Amino acid sequence: MTERIVLAYSGGLDTSVAIGWIGEATGAEVIAVAVDVGQGGESLEDIRQRALACGAVEAYVADARDEFANEYAMPTLKANALYQGHYPLVSAISRPVIVKHLVKAAREFGATTVAHGCTGKGNDQVRFEVGIQTLGPDLKCIAPVRDLALTRDKAIAFAEAKGLPIETTKKNPYSIDQNVWGRAVETGYLEDIWNAPTKDIYDYTATPEFPPAPDEVIISFHQGVPVAIDGVKVSPLQAIQELNRRAGAQGVGRIDVVEDRLVGIKSREIYEAPGAMALITAHKHLEDITVEREQARFKATVSQRWAELVYDGQWFSPLKRSLDAFIEDTQKYVSGDIRMTLHGGAAIVNGRRSETSLYDFDLATYDTGDTFDQSQAKGFIELWGMSSKVASTRDQRAAGN
Ligand code: ARG
Repeated sequence: MTERIVLAYSGGLDTSVAIGWIGEATGAEVIAVAVDVGQGGESLEDIRQRALACGAVEAYVADARDEFANEYAMPTLKANALYQGHYPLVSAISRPVIVKHLVKAAREFGATTVAHGCTGKGNDQVRFEVGIQTLGPDLKCIAPVRDLALTRDKAIAFAEAKGLPIETTKKNPYSIDQNVWGRAVETGYLEDIWNAPTKDIYDYTATPEFPPAPDEVIISFHQGVPVAIDGVKVSPLQAIQELNRRAGAQGVGRIDVVEDRLVGIKSREIYEAPGAMALITAHKHLEDITVEREQARFKATVSQRWAELVYDGQWFSPLKRSLDAFIEDTQKYVSGDIRMTLHGGAAIVNGRRSETSLYDFDLATYDTGDTFDQSQAKGFIELWGMSSKVASTRDQRAAGN
């Protein structure tokens, strides 16, 4: 029986050529797998037709937008996950959901190998292959760009020679990856890290220098998940979409960073994540009133580790799963409303309320009605500073003073 390979298919030039390229190099039949994670653009049906026209024996397409929002974006929000303090893991969280569908398609169509269009220099090859190894340990992986010498020039020549129904002339100098959680743009002019991004790079956000009138929004959360915007019930996907639109119009969520790739390269990336950044900001502020101090402090370190694991392709790892359990536990009381103003590139919180708040007005107030017993502070401070005081006395003695 002819061997079968499932290919992560975007509908673009490289993966369209990869269908025939893999076929010629390996003799296998190729099944194209296209997953909608909210990247926009062409319809799944158009993508399916192109895959078949490019020589795929079957095409598997899936609308995974809700799945992606519920099972990948929401955990990222609950974690307030920002890799290196900046990047909300846009591409990093889309790979595991695509992997799930690749493995499902491989089972459905009896494939032995999974192919993807990544180069040998990035994080995404790692995320795909580690994911595949975990969910389908018997499956092999192949990357035509990396393993079968499929360069851009060869791809264009191949598409033209075979008359593939795909544009080969459009010259986009950037490598772009996008989904509903955000957008990543790299290469070309941006590789000089002193060059400021030009306006044409952006798509999810408007220039914050000329914002429309400030937009005030109320986001309601239930156990860490957005459930309503301005009182209107929303699904996680709708919450992200709505805030992409409203925060995007105000230029919120532009990020320009040089980040540490897993393969040891520092690389420049421009991100736009208006919905994700507005939601993370709101969520963090709600945690500030609903999560107990020590739990919150510890969670910040857990979140950082969580972001590193996810960035590094360990979505399906045991440690990531354990940290998820911790994070989930912290979200029990993260319910309530956050009011924020979106304007001029910033999402600024200016009000919060929650039935499960730990903010105690009577303890906090400096007005009459104060229930905090200030006389207890004196003894507390004495004991809190004791260990440093004892050490300091020793230090002075040792220094011979
Ligand atoms: N640097 C980001 C990551 O590793 C995004 C990778 C894809 N970026 C792109 N522009 N194609 O998660």
